[in-house]
Amino acid sequence: MLYIAAIWWGVLILPSFTNRSLIDLPMEKQPLKVPDQKEFDHFAANRGFEKVFNSSYSKAYALFSFVLSDYLKQVKSDLKVLDIGCGDGWTAEFVSNFAKGHYFGIDSSAESIRKLEERVPENSGLKVTGVTESAEWIVNPKSCREIEKFLGGKPDLIICNAACHQIRKSYPDLRKVFAAASSILKQDGTILVGDYYFPEDMTQDEVEEDRNWIKNETGQTPTLRSGFIIRNEMELILESAGFISDTAREIRANRDISIIYYLFVSRKTFSQTKTSLPLS
Ligand SMILES: C[S@@+](CC[C@H](N)C(=O)[O-])C[C@H]1O[C@@H](n2cnc3c(N)ncnc32)[C@H](O)[C@@H]1O
Repeated sequence: MLYIAAIWWGVLILPSFTNRSLIDLPMEKQPLKVPDQKEFDHFAANRGFEKVFNSSYSKAYALFSFVLSDYLKQVKSDLKVLDIGCGDGWTAEFVSNFAKGHYFGIDSSAESIRKLEERVPENSGLKVTGVTESAEWIVNPKSCREIEKFLGGKPDLIICNAACHQIRKSYPDLRKVFAAASSILKQDGTILVGDYYFPEDMTQDEVEEDRNWIKNETGQTPTLRSGFIIRNEMELILESAGFISDTAREIRANRDISIIYYLFVSRKTFSQTKTSLPLS
């Protein structure tokens, strides 16, 4: 009898306790393995991204602001925004000048998320929150549920600006990030994707000149030419994730350098994402 009870305990009861404790105990969050993280934390804590990036890449941010405001002016009510690689809150504040609703930011820089969450006044009508996570966090269906819970539904607008070349340093498969973005975006929702690249006709010396300028002007460790996603590649990534691009514009990031900034305004066109990639 005792023998049977021991087997019963060992086979059925003990494992169920152990599994439970594994599931229920809050796991300590592992530090993110994202390069250049300290740089972004430093920028957020000191000069602020606006002084580092928006002023250095003035034409790029002028284009981004113009296109974003154009979208926001047409918003009727309760806008739901997801911003991937959101930075320290400039974009959230910009959105709050035009629209009421909810804004969810994801960024691997803890200092940026801290700044984001205190930047937009509560009475602005835009409720803002963020998570310190690397972009691939959205590939997990649990994360999507968390985003939808805060936003009160699927996002109408997803933004990913000037972040893809950074995200790719720690998570090379951007297609999975955009496939997940496509599956969480509302049908007929909009995605704005902007980033930089060195066009093919620039010589390597010219690229190095720009990289030196970036280092001196912003204090940032400049990304290698091969680290950027050229415009055609981005178009394919968006297409394979089920987005169709309404417009794609590009401009020199500012007068002094030749690096190009591009901005896609794309829509989700399929009820299912077109990609056959597994999401996890
Ligand atoms: C140049 S800033 C752009 C910020 C903002 N989107 C804007 O338009 O100003 C790049 C951002 O990407 C974030 N980032 C870098 N790697 C990331 C990753 N793996 N996942 C999410 N965000 C990341 C950085 O912390 C930084 O905030």
